[in-house]
Amino acid sequence: MMNGRIDLRSDTVTMPTEEMRKAMYEAAVGDDVYGDDPTVNELEKKAAEMFNKEAALFVPSGTMSNQLALFVHVKRAEEVILPDRCHIVEHEAGAASVISGAQLRCIQVNKGEMPLDVVERSIRKNPEDIHSPRTALITYENADSDGMVRSIEYMKNVKALAEKYNLPVHIDGARIFNAVEVLGVDVKDLAPYYDTISVCLSKGLCAPIGTVLIGSKKFIDEARRKRKILGGGMRQAGILAAPGLIALTKMSKRLKEDHENAKYLCERMKEIKGIDVFENLTQINMVFFKLNGFKLNSDELVSYLEEKNIIINGEDNGIMRFVTHYYVTKEDIDTLVDIMKAI
Ligand SMILES: Cc1ncc(COP(=O)(O)O)c(C=O)c1O
Repeated sequence: MMNGRIDLRSDTVTMPTEEMRKAMYEAAVGDDVYGDDPTVNELEKKAAEMFNKEAALFVPSGTMSNQLALFVHVKRAEEVILPDRCHIVEHEAGAASVISGAQLRCIQVNKGEMPLDVVERSIRKNPEDIHSPRTALITYENADSDGMVRSIEYMKNVKALAEKYNLPVHIDGARIFNAVEVLGVDVKDLAPYYDTISVCLSKGLCAPIGTVLIGSKKFIDEARRKRKILGGGMRQAGILAAPGLIALTKMSKRLKEDHENAKYLCERMKEIKGIDVFENLTQINMVFFKLNGFKLNSDELVSYLEEKNIIINGEDNGIMRFVTHYYVTKEDIDTLVDIMKAI
């Protein structure tokens, strides 16, 4: 429950915790464009340490972080190999065509994964051929927007393939802490399998704003310059980095609870007539389902629940999604399921 409502639309809706608000108030700040903000510097140092890379950069959003990664890794008219359903393709408003000028080579996913033989076939083998674009980057999400986690073996294999062709790998790790919770490893352990990663602090981790882009010092130096080009150089950003530090070091460790709640929700939804729950898709904090003979259609359900102070998204291609997070308790889940059963 958050502000008297149960909001299941996404984990992006999470508001800063009391501890975060206090940290924001008390944060030491300076001009970050001059490199003078001690709290931003601390956040960037901590992020690099945790992910076992040389450097990190605090940016306003996951979208800017992904787009900066492309802007640094890829030259205009070069090609990025990536899943057809990923955030960069579907939800970043075509930014790559404007910012980096990259061409997106979208690979049809199979159970969320780009098949590696297709990736290999898609890599341009002759950079001197004047007809074809040059491949410059491979990128994918972990966990992905459908809540599925890529295995360590898959991550290893993508990196090995990329190395064979001397290509960097960028991970959109908006929900990497959800992924490592499922994989049962520390984020440090994944460092060998990518060159750069984008980690959102403002999703299930409850920070109000912000993402860290992490990689080598050389990469981050260039990303810092290009962040300025995008107008993303912020001044006394320590008030945002302070909750970011809590997100990174503390909130990242409690995601098991959200995953368990998602599994509980999934289990309880089986009690509701006219709902097909996709149990095998519940790996992290997302529950996917379909209305199949339910009394209300998707729009009617959205309105009905809104009247009961439960906020959900409508269907997308016939599929609906509930997302658990810090502000969704087991009791909230019982409330939701009881209301849906009564319908
Ligand atoms: C997988 C993934 N990548 C990137 C983003 C972008 O983050 P932002 O909304 O901060 O731009 C999102 C947002 O939900 C996401 O789900």
